[in-house]
Amino acid sequence: MEFKNDIAIIQQQATQTNVGVIRRQAILNELNIQKGQTIIDIGCGGGYLLKEMSLAVGEKGKIIGVDSSDFQIKSAEKFCSNLSNIELLCCNADSIMIEPISCDAVTSTQTLEYIEDIDDVLRETKRLQKQNSKFINISTLWDFFGFHGPDPELNKIMHDSMKGQKHPMLPVQLSGKLEKLGYKNIKTQEINFFIRNKHDNSFPKCHEILMSNAARNMGVSEELILNWQNQLKKAEEDGSFAFTAYSILTSAYNS
Ligand SMILES: C[S@@+](CC[C@H](N)C(=O)[O-])C[C@H]1O[C@@H](n2cnc3c(N)ncnc32)[C@H](O)[C@@H]1O
Repeated sequence: MEFKNDIAIIQQQATQTNVGVIRRQAILNELNIQKGQTIIDIGCGGGYLLKEMSLAVGEKGKIIGVDSSDFQIKSAEKFCSNLSNIELLCCNADSIMIEPISCDAVTSTQTLEYIEDIDDVLRETKRLQKQNSKFINISTLWDFFGFHGPDPELNKIMHDSMKGQKHPMLPVQLSGKLEKLGYKNIKTQEINFFIRNKHDNSFPKCHEILMSNAARNMGVSEELILNWQNQLKKAEEDGSFAFTAYSILTSAYNS
């Protein structure tokens, strides 16, 4: 999936919902940021976490945002324009041009599952991390992600069009991959959402739009998409709607 134009704008809106805020809070809790630290966010998107980390590390610290999408990097530049301790790099996560052993922490949110060669990315994060520094990742268990309420067959057609992740169940494999690379003290925690309405600025609404776009791109007819949207609306009205997302925060220390 390419995060540019309309897709990037909706993705950024999703990040500003309560779901995005709760995920960022979970990362900030785990990071326990100290003044003066250098922290990198891989797949930084519109830069929402960068801004919060920038304030926490202070003027002597440094926050590096990495994203392969020029559109996302430009959005992050704009969003963080008044902060002088943020550096933005438009590059692939497996090849980041910064000094080895220079980061006090590496974090990433819902990005690694989109990257084919994840082992290369993990080797790169390890190369950048100082000894005993923290690695924190949040990824969604995509097999459990989605809408409940519409006709199951039509609902499946819609959900199948959003299966652009290279590793839809990444949290299942991530701990083992980190262990093989020598990371220690690997822990996981669940961040779950069960949402029963979809107002205009909600996380489910953003995903209804993203899923409709994805279905359109996969050749699903406008009639079927509209039918699905109407069924979602009806389910919400009659109290049989739910949206579920099951994410996992994985943390580890570089040894
Ligand atoms: C779902 S968005 C998440 C953005 C942000 N972390 C957030 O939570 O709002 C995934 C991001 O990963 C970026 N991305 C995808 N593949 C990448 C790669 N190989 N290297 C760096 N960034 C990548 C995308 O451009 C996109 O901005």
